[in-house]
Amino acid sequence: LTVQVNRPGAAVNKNMYGLFFEDINFAADGGLYPELVKNKSFETDDHLLGWKALRGGAALESYVVLTDGPIGPTNNHFLRLSTKTGGPEAGFVNEGFRGMGVKEGAEYTFSVYARRGPGSITGLRVTLEQPGPRKDGPETPDSGAALAQAQITGLTGEWKKYSVVLKPSATFAKARLKLTVDGTGTVDLDVASLYPKDTWMKRENGLRPDLVQLLKDMQPGFLRFPGGCIVEGRTLAQRYQWKETIGEVAARPSLVNRWNTEFLHKFTPDYYQSFGLGFFEYFQLAEDIGAEPLPILNVGMACQFNSAELAPIGPITAAKGPNATPAAADDAPTLQTFIQDALDLVEFANGPASSPWGAKRVAMGHPAPFHLKMLGIGNEQWGPQYLERYELFAKALKAKYPAIEIVSSAGPSPDGPLFDTASKRLAELKAEYVDEHYYAKPEWFRQHADRYDKYARTGPKIFAGEYAAQSVAIASPENRNTWDCALSEAAFMTGLERNADVVGMASYAPLFAHVDAWQWTPDMIWFDNLNSYGSPSYYVQKMYALNKGTRVLPVALPGGAKNGTDNLFASAVADDKAGDVVVKLVNYSTSPRAVKIDLAGAKKLGKTGRAQVMASADLQTQNSLKEPQKLAPQESTFAVSGSVVSYTLAPNSFTVLRVAGR
Ligand code: AHR
Repeated sequence: LTVQVNRPGAAVNKNMYGLFFEDINFAADGGLYPELVKNKSFETDDHLLGWKALRGGAALESYVVLTDGPIGPTNNHFLRLSTKTGGPEAGFVNEGFRGMGVKEGAEYTFSVYARRGPGSITGLRVTLEQPGPRKDGPETPDSGAALAQAQITGLTGEWKKYSVVLKPSATFAKARLKLTVDGTGTVDLDVASLYPKDTWMKRENGLRPDLVQLLKDMQPGFLRFPGGCIVEGRTLAQRYQWKETIGEVAARPSLVNRWNTEFLHKFTPDYYQSFGLGFFEYFQLAEDIGAEPLPILNVGMACQFNSAELAPIGPITAAKGPNATPAAADDAPTLQTFIQDALDLVEFANGPASSPWGAKRVAMGHPAPFHLKMLGIGNEQWGPQYLERYELFAKALKAKYPAIEIVSSAGPSPDGPLFDTASKRLAELKAEYVDEHYYAKPEWFRQHADRYDKYARTGPKIFAGEYAAQSVAIASPENRNTWDCALSEAAFMTGLERNADVVGMASYAPLFAHVDAWQWTPDMIWFDNLNSYGSPSYYVQKMYALNKGTRVLPVALPGGAKNGTDNLFASAVADDKAGDVVVKLVNYSTSPRAVKIDLAGAKKLGKTGRAQVMASADLQTQNSLKEPQKLAPQESTFAVSGSVVSYTLAPNSFTVLRVAGR
C-alpha cells in the first residue's frame, strides 16, 4: 500500500463523527434520563400507568385520578387516595422502568407534591423495596424487603412539595417504590419523583453518568437529537414539540412515544415521553461532551410510514415574536407554526437574555448561548411534499439566520429512488447537508465502501445521519451487534473518510437500548438499570472519532486495486495537531494478511508507531453486560523502517496505525 503523506487532500470536518440520539429503546426515560418513577405526574393516557394499588386497593376507601384543583394547567392530573385506617398496606407502588436500579449507600431524592383533604392523615411513608413474594396473586404486589424508608409529615391543605433522601441498604436492579398513608382521610399526590443524586456533573435533573461517560469517551463531533421518527410523530398532534420540553420539569406535559408500537420487536404499551430530558438538557449534554448540537425539527409532515399527515402550507409570514403559533389550541397547525418553532429555537439556543426565547434559556440557568450552528429540517422524508415545505422553511430560516447550516432529509432506502428524487432539487436550493440513512446487511456496507467516490462535489454535503449493519435483516428483532456488523461498518467508513471532502458528518443509529425494553436492534450502547456496555460497533465508532485526523491522505492499494478488493479496505489521514500519520485498515478475511505500507514522501518519521486493533476470528463475537469488553481495541507498538511499515493484519480485524512524522 502507498500512503501519499506529502499530498494531503481535503480537510476532515472536525465534527465528522458524532451521535444520533433518539428516544427509542427506553433511551431517554428509563435510560439516559434517570428518573426512577414511571408516570410520576399521572399524565399518561392511562393515568395510572406504572402504578398499582397495594392489595388491589383493599386497604383504601377509594383511589381516583382527578383534575380539579391541580398543581398547574399542564400538569392537571393527580391521584387522590382516601384511606380507611391507613397503615403499611394503604397506598400504591410504582414499578419504575422495568424496575428501579438502585445502589447500596447511594442517595436518592424522593419528592412529591401533596395536599391533605378532610380527615386525620398525618403523613406519608416512602419505602424503596425489593419486589417481595406475592401473597394474593399478581394484582397484589405486597411488600418485599425494605431497602430504604423515610417519612413525610406536616401535610397541609395546600399543594406543597416535600422531599426526603433514601439510601438503599443493598444494590438492586429491579426495586420498586411504595407510598403508603398514615391516618384516616384523603390526600392528593402529584409529581412523585425518585431521582438519584449521583447524576452527570451532580446536576439536579441531571443524566445517568455511566451513559454520558460512554458518549463523552467517543469525543463526538456532534449530537443529533431528538430523533428519528420521533420528530415526526405518528400524527402531527403526536409530533415532538420542543417548546413543550423546556422550563420547569413538573410542568412539561407527557406524550405517547412514537415507539409505543407493535412494529418490530417488543410491544411497549408503557412507552411515554416525560420530557424530563428536553431540549435544554440536550443542548447542555452536547456542551458537556464537546459536541455541536444538531436539533432536527418537524417540517410539517407526520411519519410517512404512519399517517403521513401534512400540515397545510397556508400563508407564510415574516418571522414573528414569541408564541406566534395559531391562537386556538385546536387549530390545525400550518407550515408557519413549524417555521416559527425553528426560528424560536435558534433564539432559545443563541439569543441574548433580552430576547423572549433567549430569556427562557437564561431562566433555566444557562446565560451563555449554546452556539447552535446547524439545524435539520425533517427526518427521513422525501418527495414533492417534502421539497415544497423544505423550500419555504429553509428560505424563512436563512432570511433571519443566514449563518445557520441546514440539514435536509432524504428517503430511507439507500439504493432506491427516494434518495435520488430529492437530491437534484436540494442541490438547486443549496442545501448544506443531505441526511442519508442506510440500514442494510453487513455485505452491503462492504460492497458500498465506494458509495461517495463518484458523488457530485458541487451539491450538498452528506450527513450519513443513521446507519448500522443489520446481522439478519433490516429491522429484524433477531439482529445482533456482531463483530461482522461492526467490521463491515469499519470497512464502509474507510469510504466515508476517503471522501471527507463530500461527507461532512456521520453517526451510527440507534444509539441506546435497554436490554429489557427495546424495539429496534442492533444498537450502539446497551444498558440495564445499573450497568452499560458498548457494542463492537461502539468501539469502531470511537476508533474513528479518536483518530479522525485533520486531512485526508491518498491511499493506493497494491496494483492500483479498488478499495475493498480482496476484502482489504484502507484509508489514511494526517493528524496535523498531533503531528502523526494515521492509517486505518480492515482485513475482512479469516487469514492474517501481511501488508507493507509505504508512507511516501514522509519526513522525520518515528522509529516506532502505535497500533490499536480490534480483532476476532469469530465474526459472531458480541459484547454483553457480562462481558462488556469481550471485543474492544487492544494497543501495541510496531517498528517503522525508513518510510515503510511492515505489519501483519490479524484475521477479521480493524487496525489503526499511528506514526509520528509528516
Ligand atoms: O433509528 C431508528 C429509526 O430508523 C429512526 O427513527 C428513523 O429515522 C429510521 O427509520
